[in-house]
Amino acid sequence: MTGADRAAPAREQTTGRQAAWWRGSVGYEVYLRSFADADGDGVGDLWGLYGKLDYLAWLGVDLLWVTPFYPSPMLDHGYDVADYCDVDPRYGTLAAVDALVERAHALGLRLLIDLVPNHTSWEHPWFRQARSARDNPYRDYYIWRDPAAGGGPPNNWRSHFGGPAWSFDERTGQWWLHLFLPGQPDLNWANHAVADEFDDILRFWLDRGVDGFRVDVAHALVKHPDLPDNPPARHEQAALMAGMSAAYRSQQHLYDVNQPGVLDIYRRWRKVVDPYGGLLLGEAYVLEAPDLARYVVDQDGLHLAFWFRPLHMDWDPVAVREVLEAATVAAPDSSLAWVQSSHDRPRAVTRFGGGALGRARALAHATLLMGLPGVPFVYQGEELGLADARIAREDARDPAGVRDDAGGSSRDGARTPMLWSPGPGLGFTTAGRPWLPFGDRTDADTVAVQRADPSSTLRRYRRLIRLRRETPDLHTEPVQWVDEAGGVVAYRRGRVLVAANCTHDEAAVELPTGRWRLAFATAGQEDRPEPLAATLRLRPQEAVVAQST
Ligand code: NOJ
Repeated sequence: MTGADRAAPAREQTTGRQAAWWRGSVGYEVYLRSFADADGDGVGDLWGLYGKLDYLAWLGVDLLWVTPFYPSPMLDHGYDVADYCDVDPRYGTLAAVDALVERAHALGLRLLIDLVPNHTSWEHPWFRQARSARDNPYRDYYIWRDPAAGGGPPNNWRSHFGGPAWSFDERTGQWWLHLFLPGQPDLNWANHAVADEFDDILRFWLDRGVDGFRVDVAHALVKHPDLPDNPPARHEQAALMAGMSAAYRSQQHLYDVNQPGVLDIYRRWRKVVDPYGGLLLGEAYVLEAPDLARYVVDQDGLHLAFWFRPLHMDWDPVAVREVLEAATVAAPDSSLAWVQSSHDRPRAVTRFGGGALGRARALAHATLLMGLPGVPFVYQGEELGLADARIAREDARDPAGVRDDAGGSSRDGARTPMLWSPGPGLGFTTAGRPWLPFGDRTDADTVAVQRADPSSTLRRYRRLIRLRRETPDLHTEPVQWVDEAGGVVAYRRGRVLVAANCTHDEAAVELPTGRWRLAFATAGQEDRPEPLAATLRLRPQEAVVAQST
């Protein structure tokens, strides 16, 4: 561990396993660079986030995931970590983290930080050492190989961002592996010293009071020991990976990711985090539900894993039903985290058609996600109904978008700054220019304006989040999918029915016998007291939550 001698505030450890406090929670992703800028340099920071915690408490979410704030050359905006136990001065200080944790807890919010264990930055002292000589003690912290027979890279693996997954080090005459940028060398998890380092890193942050970790690239820490070539992807496999870089889609990822041994790492980490009641939430990018379920089902691996298929799906009733049902069947025990947007994919509003149509569909889809077992996550700005911003080429910042063969996969459009209030800097920054342009936004897109408007998307999200919190059946009852032919995707959980009309036409769903009332409707007319008719009619792209009384 580096940066170790900084004092951490004392925190009482719990004995044994704590109840899963995250059950029933709603999560919120804070993309820190773009959330709120307190020091006026155009980049979001920890004090900026601190100043917005009251807003998040008002919104009603329980669990924040904050993207990386560690010292970093920022080649991948912080997912290239140069010191796991410190804070980049552009984002704040360790004292700012402590203050954030304390204030979040005072407001009843839990805080997950982003752990990046698959790779470091090439500026991390471990890699600097490793690169200096073949016999350096840190050499084996990373994955080095001699050139292939013809002198090229050791195998055919591709970087997720395009190009080969290997770079050549002239001085020592070997290649290093990087599933992402050359500046993000992969750690060698077969080396026990690496595992020991991370035990200490986990404890460092748990001792400071964080509530757990979002585990970056949780499916890739272990590689096949022989590093065999990946076979080319078949058509249907490439289709499943739609939206990922061309390089990634070109291969079947049989040997570079999703190796069974990776679960041993999480079993080990559970021994570290469980005494603190810490949560492990994996970014396991595994798009087949039964494969993903392996990371969470036995309750000795990750506590929760994100289900990413909704980020790759079309707005079509068959697809929506299939993608959500597959996950609830494979992992029925509340161990999935549900997302429809993130800093890595175009926003749901954009993917679902843009404009008012995309907004209506995204809210309908959020309604479906909000009723499922596990933890639904909202990505900052989703609650405002934001679409992606269009970013001109000269303003592009995402390495995934500017690398040669990854064309079209830029993540910049989903990463533009939050819109807090009308006026210059939109309440995000006092700098003349934010690090990434805001895009073409109006006052109606801001938190301040939407907060004052009872019919805004923001107020709909807030109501939906409160409904989830206040409805016990949405925390305990199993999911029963309702078979509907007419383009409505619906499920029941105990006395609750959630339904979304995924078509352009009016559609209907039959309510089971009993007295039902409307608890939520995306269009917002739920405050009618009268019971619902046995046939519940839904307008195009409308979603509702009904409750039997
Ligand atoms: C997933 C993160 O969400 C993404 O932003 C990053 O580029 C990769 N992991 C590599 O760390």
